[in-house]
Amino acid sequence: MNKPYSAACDNNRGPILEVLARHLTAPATVLELGSGTGQHAAWLPAQLPHLHWQPSDLPANLPGIAAWLREAALPNVAAPIELDMAAPWPELPFDHLFTANTFHIAASESVAAAISQAGQRLPTNGLFVVYGPFNYDGDFTSESNARFDAWLRQQDPASGLRDHTWVTERMQAAALTQIADYAMPANNRTLVFRKC
Ligand SMILES: C[S@@+](CC[C@H](N)C(=O)[O-])C[C@H]1O[C@@H](n2cnc3c(N)ncnc32)[C@H](O)[C@@H]1O
Repeated sequence: MNKPYSAACDNNRGPILEVLARHLTAPATVLELGSGTGQHAAWLPAQLPHLHWQPSDLPANLPGIAAWLREAALPNVAAPIELDMAAPWPELPFDHLFTANTFHIAASESVAAAISQAGQRLPTNGLFVVYGPFNYDGDFTSESNARFDAWLRQQDPASGLRDHTWVTERMQAAALTQIADYAMPANNRTLVFRKC
């Protein structure tokens, strides 16, 4: 099959790697939510061989992720599994969570459900690393983010950029404390939460 491709993944993988390398220093299993094309799963774990990586997504995306992983043939990446952030997650063990560009795509109820399950399933000191565009104090951080949000909501009224406060309040309620908030290229952020 022709592998799905996202130019954004090629652009953001280096900056994301810097954050992951800073915070995920010990051997551990990382569950990735919404792996999309599979490009992150096929590259990030190659740079972080001490991590065991478990990609996941909705069923339609699994063949594309598998195609990237077949080519990468990484010993530390598992086959992608079906996981709907909004539904009960499969009973698999993990130490940390990573997700990129999903919080503005999935409906807010799905994001809230994911945060709640993260709080229940992450072990103490487990991290939830979230990359993507966010609003701050109800405002867009750039014109391009405002245009992107309008475009997203036209495609799907349930999608759209989430406010940083909306996210952190739900994380707090799930016993997840923000320990870092990095500015990333192209008006994105990486938020890092730790389970208390
Ligand atoms: C913009 S793509 C990002 C993909 C990839 N993480 C990246 O950074 O390129 C959004 C992803 O979120 C996934 N997604 C949307 N709703 C979801 C849900 N309820 N559960 C799991 N994944 C979901 C989509 O299937 C898609 O792969």
